[in-house]
Amino acid sequence: MSSVPAIIITIDGWSSCGKSTLAKQLARELSYTYIDSGAMYRAITLYFLRNHIDWTSPAEVTSALQHISLEFRANHKNGQTEMYLNGENVEYVIRDLVVAEKVSEVAAIREVREFAVAQQQMMGRQKGIVMDGRDIGTVVFPAAELKIFMTADKAIRVQRRFHELYEKNPNVTIDEVRANLELRDYIDSHREVSPLRKAADAIELDNSHIGIREQLELVKEWVKQRLG
Ligand code: CDP
Repeated sequence: MSSVPAIIITIDGWSSCGKSTLAKQLARELSYTYIDSGAMYRAITLYFLRNHIDWTSPAEVTSALQHISLEFRANHKNGQTEMYLNGENVEYVIRDLVVAEKVSEVAAIREVREFAVAQQQMMGRQKGIVMDGRDIGTVVFPAAELKIFMTADKAIRVQRRFHELYEKNPNVTIDEVRANLELRDYIDSHREVSPLRKAADAIELDNSHIGIREQLELVKEWVKQRLG
């Protein structure tokens, strides 16, 4: 599928169900830009942790956000886009459990969401993007041409995330990973501001028992239908 017209594809869903894997594959196939909205919330959380920001204080949050500049830059060695926080590459450090333990709390803050969503909407102005997250099809791009809502069995999601984190840090335990996933799923779906939910016009994709290639073929069909 080369030189396809530009549409917006949104991928929302629970933690660790493979949203970014699918989003990256799709972006590559379509020559679209992939945007990992979760990386933005993770980078903001990292900034708050490093600078001891009391995020229960709206005034402190508002003032801290004025010192945060987020940017996605391409890594020409591996072709991936990476998250930069105030000019520093934080792509790897934001995946740490220390950040994961706090990110859902930070992402539930109204001021934080307004800050991130405004930038996400700017990135989609030219279309030709695949963005994954929690509220992309419901709040960020409610008029997106193709919306996917991903799910997978919890035990499978825990295993997937455990393997990912274990590669970087062999001290991580499966119980820690499960607890983090359950906590984030709960906070993300119960928060007041833009909770995780399936948009009425999103297609649900449960990938518990389908492989990465099969999943891509399926979604490419949906893209074709939207373009047709
Ligand atoms: O990779 P995983 O699905 O576990 O998480 P992520 O996409 O990196 O997102 C990390 C956290 O950021 C989520 O648990 C949410 O709390 C928050 N998030 C959000 O609130 N809205 C988004 N559009 C994306 C992420």
